[in-house]
Amino acid sequence: MIRPAPAWEVPRVIAHRCGGALAPENTLAGLPIAAALGYRAVEFDVMLSADGTPWVIHDETLERTTNGRGNVCGTPDTILRTLDAGAHQHRAFAGEPLPTFEAVARACRTLGLLANVEIKPAQGFEKITGETVARRILELWGDAPLPLVSSFSEEALVAARHVAPQLPLGYLCVRPPEDWMRRMDAVAAYSLHCAARKLDDSVLATARAAGIPVLCFTVNDRQDAEALLARGVTAVFSDRIDSLRGL
Ligand code: G3P
Ligand code: MG
Repeated sequence: MIRPAPAWEVPRVIAHRCGGALAPENTLAGLPIAAALGYRAVEFDVMLSADGTPWVIHDETLERTTNGRGNVCGTPDTILRTLDAGAHQHRAFAGEPLPTFEAVARACRTLGLLANVEIKPAQGFEKITGETVARRILELWGDAPLPLVSSFSEEALVAARHVAPQLPLGYLCVRPPEDWMRRMDAVAAYSLHCAARKLDDSVLATARAAGIPVLCFTVNDRQDAEALLARGVTAVFSDRIDSLRGL
C-alpha cells in the first residue's frame, strides 16, 4: 500500500490550533508565537462559510470564539470578515480577525511553518469541504512541501483524496475503532491521529509494525508528552506550547 507521505519529518510537538493557549485559537496571532518558540509545525481547523470559502475555525457556530452569532456554514464572507476572534481570549487580542484559510496558509509559508490542516466540515458539508480544502491546498502550497491533512470525517478524507492523490492524509479519531487500519487503507492515510487518553499499546504496536506514525491530541502536560513519545508516539498536539518547548 502506497501512503503519500509528507516531504518533511513530523516534529515531536505540534502547536495546536495555531498557537496553542498563548493566543486566541485558530488565529494568525498564534503563528508567530509558535514560530518564535521554536515550533516547526502547527495544526488548525478549516470549515466552509455560506459562500463556500474555507475559514479557520473549530466550532460549527461562531459564539464561543468570535463576537458573531450563528452557524459558520450559514454566514457569508462579508460578515465573517468583520468578526473579532481575539477578544474572547483577552482584550489584548481585541481586533484579531477571524482568519481565512488562505491567510493562515500564506502566513505559514512566510514563517516557514509546516502545517497539519484539519478539515472540519459542518454536518452535511463533508464532501464539498474535503474537495474545496484539498483544491485550495494545491493552489496555496504549489511546489512547497504539502501539509498533512486530517479529518474526523472519512467522507471528507475520501473527497480530498479524489482531488489530490498526492496529499498526505491523517486518519483522525478519538479512540481508534477495531478496523482502524482498514479505514486508513481506504484513503491511503499516512498517519493515525487519536486522543492520547484513548491510545492503547496494541494499537501502537500494530501501527509501528506497519510503519504508521501515531499522533496524539491534546497533550498539555510535559511528563505526559514525554511518556507518550517514549511509548513510540511520533508527535503530540499541544495547547501548552510554552511547557512542552524543546521536547
Ligand atoms: O487534529 C487534532 C485535534 O485538533 C483534533 O481535535 O477538536 O481539537 O480539532 P480538535
Ligand atoms: Mg483540530
